[in-house]
Amino acid sequence: NAQNKIPEGLQQLPGPKPFPIIGNLLELGKRPYLSLTSMSKCYGDVFQIQIGMRPVVVLSGNETVRQALIKQGDEFAGRPDLYSFRYINDGKSLSFSTDQAGIWRARRKLAYSALRSFSNLEGTTPEYSCALEEHISKELNTVMKTKGSFDPFRYVVVSVANVICGMCFGRRYDHHDDELVSLVNLSDDFVKVVGSGNPADFIPLLQYLPSTKMKKFVSLNARFSKFVQKLVTEHYATFDKDNIRDITDSLIDHCEDRKLDENANIQMSDEKIVGIVNDLFGAGFDTISTALSWSLMYFVAYPEIQNRLFEEMKEKVGLDRMPVFSDRNNLPLLEAYILELFRHSSYLPFTIPHCTTKDTSLNGYFIPKDTCVFINQWQINHDPELWEDPFSFKPERFLNADGTEVNKVEGEKVMTFGLGKRRCIGEVIARNELFLFLAILIQKLNFQALPGDQLDLTPEYGLTMKHKRYHLRATMRVKNEQ
Ligand code: HEM
Repeated sequence: NAQNKIPEGLQQLPGPKPFPIIGNLLELGKRPYLSLTSMSKCYGDVFQIQIGMRPVVVLSGNETVRQALIKQGDEFAGRPDLYSFRYINDGKSLSFSTDQAGIWRARRKLAYSALRSFSNLEGTTPEYSCALEEHISKELNTVMKTKGSFDPFRYVVVSVANVICGMCFGRRYDHHDDELVSLVNLSDDFVKVVGSGNPADFIPLLQYLPSTKMKKFVSLNARFSKFVQKLVTEHYATFDKDNIRDITDSLIDHCEDRKLDENANIQMSDEKIVGIVNDLFGAGFDTISTALSWSLMYFVAYPEIQNRLFEEMKEKVGLDRMPVFSDRNNLPLLEAYILELFRHSSYLPFTIPHCTTKDTSLNGYFIPKDTCVFINQWQINHDPELWEDPFSFKPERFLNADGTEVNKVEGEKVMTFGLGKRRCIGEVIARNELFLFLAILIQKLNFQALPGDQLDLTPEYGLTMKHKRYHLRATMRVKNEQ
C-alpha cells in the first residue's frame, strides 16, 4: 500500500481517481495540455494521474516548476523508460534515453561544446559575422526565388534542416533532393508518437496490438539513423585530425583523444559519442521549422502586426541590406513577436517527460523514485495569474510603454525550452536562427492567405504541435525596395 510508505510530514499526491486498467486515459483525451490544465485548477500545481497502471506526476505553475527543475534539479533530471523512446537513435539518444546521470552529463557537455563551436565559426567572407548567419542568409536567397502561392512549410523545413546539416555534416541539400525532403517530412509522424501521454508508452498490452502509427514510427527512426550513419561513415573515411570540418568530425576527434587519455573515467562507446550528432540534427530542424511555420500563420492571421513588423524593419535596418544578427537589439517588436509566438502557440506544450532519480517531495507531497513527470509548459504560458488576457495574441505585452524596449522579466516567464538540468542546449542558436529567418522574410516578403481560405489554427497534438497546412501567397515588398 503506497500510503504506508509516505514519510512522516509529507502528504499523498492528490488527483483524479483512476479506473482499473486504463487509469485516467479517457480524461486525458486528445489534447492533454488542455485536460491537464483543467485538472491543475482542481488539484493544484502538483498532482498525480494514472495512465494505464503507471502513475504520472503533472507539474504546473511557474513557481512549482522552477522549484522542481532548478532548485531540486538533480532529483527531477531523469528520463522515464518509455516504450517509444527505445526506438529513437537505436535507444542511444542523448535526449530520450535513460542514460545514468554521469554518462548523460558527459554527453550533454560534449554536445553543447560542439554545437557552440560550430555555430560561432567564422563565415567564408567578412560580409557574415559567423557561419550560422551565412548559412541562413544563403538558404533564404534560394527560397525567395519561389513564385506565386506555395506551402511555406515545405520550404521552411528544408532550409532549416540545411542550416543544421551545415553545422553537423558540412553540407546542404537541394530543395528537390528526395532523400532529404522525404526524411524531414517524417517529423510529423515522429512528434505524434513522442508527445507526453502516448497510451502505448504506458499500457504494455497496446505494444502488442498492430498500430500503423507505431509501425511508421519504428521505420522512420530506422531511416533517420541510416541517413546519419551514411554521413558518419563518409566522415570516418575522410577524417583528418588537422582539419575538423564540422560537428561530426569534432565528435570523432573526441573519440580518438579519449583513447589516448588513460585517466578517462567515464566509459562510453564511440557510438554513444558520435551518435550525439543524430540528436543534434533531429532536435535542430523540427523545433525551429515548426516555430517558423507558426510565425507565418500568425503573420497571415494578424496582417496589421505583419505590417508593423515591416515598418520597424524599414525604419531600423532599412531595405538596402540584409538584416544580420547584430540588428537583433534594434528590433524590439520582432523580439516581442517571437516571445508572443512561443507563449500563445505553446507549440511545445510539454517538455520531454522527466523522471525522478530518487525519492523526493514537492510542495509537501511525496514523490517516489522513478516516477514519470510531465511539465505542462502550455499551462504556464496561459496562466491567468501570470498573464493578462492570456488567450489574445499581443506582442506588445512584452514591450515597455513607449515600445522601444523588450521587458526582459516578462520575457523570462515564457516557458518553451524547459528549465534547469535538462534545459534545451540549442536555445541560443534557436532564438538567433528564428530571429534572422524572420527578419529576412519580413524585409522582403508580405504573406497572405489565399482568398476564401478560413484559417483554422487549432494545433494537432504532439511533442511539437503542428498547424494545418495551407498554401500562402508571398509577394515581394517591391514598391519599397526601389
Ligand atoms: C531539449 C525546446 C531547438 C537540442 C529540449 C526540450 C525542449 C526544447 C522543451 C526539453 C527540455 C526538458 O526535457 O525539460 C526547443 C525549442 C527549440 C529547440 C522550442 C527551437 C525553437 C533546439 C536546437 C537544438 C536542440 C536547435 C540543437 C541543435 C536539444 C537537445 C535537447 C533539447 C540535445 C535534450 C537535452 C537533454 O535531454 O539533456 N529542447 N529546442 N534544441 N534540445 Fe531543444
